Amino acid sequence: MSQTKSKQEKSMPEMAIEISNLTKKYGDLEAVNNLSLKIRRGEVFGLLGPNGAGKTTTINMLNGLLKPTEGEIFVNGYNIKKDLRRIKNLIGVCPQHEAVYKFLTGRENIELFGVLYDLKKQEIRERTDFLLKSINFVEESKRKAKTYSGGMLRILNMLMALIGNPEIVFLDEPTVGMDPRARRNVWKFISSLKERNKTVILTTHYIEEAEALSDTIAIIDYGELIALGPPQILLERYNAKNLEEVFLEITGRRILEGI
Ligand SMILES: Nc1ncnc2c1ncn2[C@@H]1O[C@H](COP(=O)(O)OP(=O)(O)O)[C@@H](O)[C@H]1O
Ligand SMILES: [Mg+2]
Repeated sequence: MSQTKSKQEKSMPEMAIEISNLTKKYGDLEAVNNLSLKIRRGEVFGLLGPNGAGKTTTINMLNGLLKPTEGEIFVNGYNIKKDLRRIKNLIGVCPQHEAVYKFLTGRENIELFGVLYDLKKQEIRERTDFLLKSINFVEESKRKAKTYSGGMLRILNMLMALIGNPEIVFLDEPTVGMDPRARRNVWKFISSLKERNKTVILTTHYIEEAEALSDTIAIIDYGELIALGPPQILLERYNAKNLEEVFLEITGRRILEGI
């Protein structure tokens, strides 16, 4: 069994995700326009851009919720058009808008997801304990979700996405509505995912967040890729102090000005 597993691991492609010429149109609007990217296994990949740039649309195509108008997507080497079922077993998704059962406690919400993933009872209990401890959410998890702040709901949704111990984790705006302390907590947690060799795809419109966490950053604007690379390289290329300056240099606008 362990031999089979190590064989499988060896045969895992270096790229967790490869997309080529990905486009999504809503009528005349090109929400995502001809996007090509490679995301390495084990990296934190930050998709940075203003509101409406096409981040959520991209994520939702990568996790199979939305069908691309054009283009190809490979997750762990599997073509999403043919192997979506296999891909679903590899990924965990924390959507931009919370989907939790408000009348269940935090813990019950996570455990319910464990049941949906068909995990064994003991496994569910152990993983839930591990997740709750790793982000200091044990006490909060005893309360019903209807009493949670926006930031707490985000944390809960993130933990629910992780109960299946996925290889690839999508986090769509994970820290919206959080105070600085909670935000730092989530940053630490995301770093710990990377230490466990998970691939994390993070969307954010917070410049410091993308800069602090990402090994590679893709800046998108109006659905188009306008810059790609490790943060340090982008800063050097544009002779900028931070990614806001990079964005300003390329577009003449600030990220938080929106569109
Ligand atoms: N279901 C939809 N129907 C029509 N337009 C949409 C839909 N979803 C998103 N859009 C539009 O697509 C663009 C990209 O949206 P989105 O991917 O949500 O951006 P972001 O996540 O970067 O804020 C926006 O102009 C948005 O209004
Ligand atoms: Mg979004």
